[in-house]
Amino acid sequence: MAFRKITSSKSRLLFTGLILIIIVPGLWFLAGEAKDWVKSIYAANVPRTTAFPSSSTPDQICLTWNGDPATTQAIQWRTNPAVTEGIVQYRKRDETSAQPMEVKAEVSSLEDRLVGNDPVNQRFTATLKDLSPDTVYAYRVGSPAVNSWSLWLEFATAPVEPESFSFIYLGDLQVGMFAWNKLLNRAKEIQPNTAFYIMAGDIVNRGTKREEWDELFNEAQGFFDNKPFVPALGNHDYAKQKSPEQYLKIFALPENGPGELPKELAYSFTYSNAFFVVLDGNQPPEKQSGWLDQQLAGSRAVWKFAVFHQPAYSSKSSRDNEDIRESWGALFDRYHVDMVLQGHDHAYLRTYPMKDGKKAASAKEGTYYVVSVSGSKFYDQESHDYAEVGFTKTDTFQIIDIQTNGKSTCTYRAYDAEGKIRDEVVIEK
Ligand SMILES: [Fe+2]
Ligand SMILES: [Fe+2]
Repeated sequence: MAFRKITSSKSRLLFTGLILIIIVPGLWFLAGEAKDWVKSIYAANVPRTTAFPSSSTPDQICLTWNGDPATTQAIQWRTNPAVTEGIVQYRKRDETSAQPMEVKAEVSSLEDRLVGNDPVNQRFTATLKDLSPDTVYAYRVGSPAVNSWSLWLEFATAPVEPESFSFIYLGDLQVGMFAWNKLLNRAKEIQPNTAFYIMAGDIVNRGTKREEWDELFNEAQGFFDNKPFVPALGNHDYAKQKSPEQYLKIFALPENGPGELPKELAYSFTYSNAFFVVLDGNQPPEKQSGWLDQQLAGSRAVWKFAVFHQPAYSSKSSRDNEDIRESWGALFDRYHVDMVLQGHDHAYLRTYPMKDGKKAASAKEGTYYVVSVSGSKFYDQESHDYAEVGFTKTDTFQIIDIQTNGKSTCTYRAYDAEGKIRDEVVIEK
């Protein structure tokens, strides 16, 4: 009897111990989850302000392409809700006495009710068509009804025949907009004639917060209003939303992407003798492979560039994106994509020319993969056998210069904020 009593009190002790081991961490975990949940609900409902509220004067003027860069130009801007219609007036820059032509813009509201001092913006998009290739146009945007106009600005259409040109590629901005503006100014100082600006995603930190886009456009004044902006989507532009709603409302982009994805997430275009394919690394890569195959197979361009956010060759093994490398790498090999321009890892990395996951003998056989960062948030970097150049804690911009005199040459240079060249490759064809 005494023996049974001891056993039963031991069992009770064991049972109580087990309950404590299971229940206490469980409760601890649930409390943490609940705290995060309450925090996220709170954060998602806290009123915010924008430092750059809209007015009846057009601002955030941004050029993008949603058609052929040689004959079309999309122009976007915003005002406050008092302005209900908008037009673009434009003419060839050299025809100073010509009556400007006009195109009516489409208008839609962009609402972010939590931006307390400016919750609703009017977004305008006009697409100019049938433009002459290789021509500089003067334009202004505004509203005759309220007699509110931008200054006269300029853009240039792309050449039809292969011509030399340069473009600028930037990695993640995400945080540090003020320093980013200085970086852009440095880039413009070194290459004032860039044809366009590519950004490989994480353009803002929280794509659901309109005030961050307002900050971006404030810093991009004098850049994206006279040279087209070519964006790719980063995870921070989605900000955990299924659809990057604000990004899609702000930018008019080509609708020639994969049928398996919503429009404008991925797209392609040709500029001079170069083909650009912009992919969405946030979406399943295999849904884009068939389209990517067709796009690369169909291009006769001398140079081929791919742009997306999550890198195929990353800075850290914990940030590896094997699915992207597996789904797209073989296609980059087959059609010989020259350079892949990426972001996400917040540290500079350029691979050797790569083919089939291995170092190729030269750029003639392989593809360079680049990760760069243009903002002020930096991550560590591990050493990798595929990395030819890698460094950390440095924001850079990249100027890519295509020369077409005789044989074609692609000169790639990465510069730091002081304008010092930090990496360089030259590919000849
Ligand atoms: Fe990022
Ligand atoms: Fe990212």
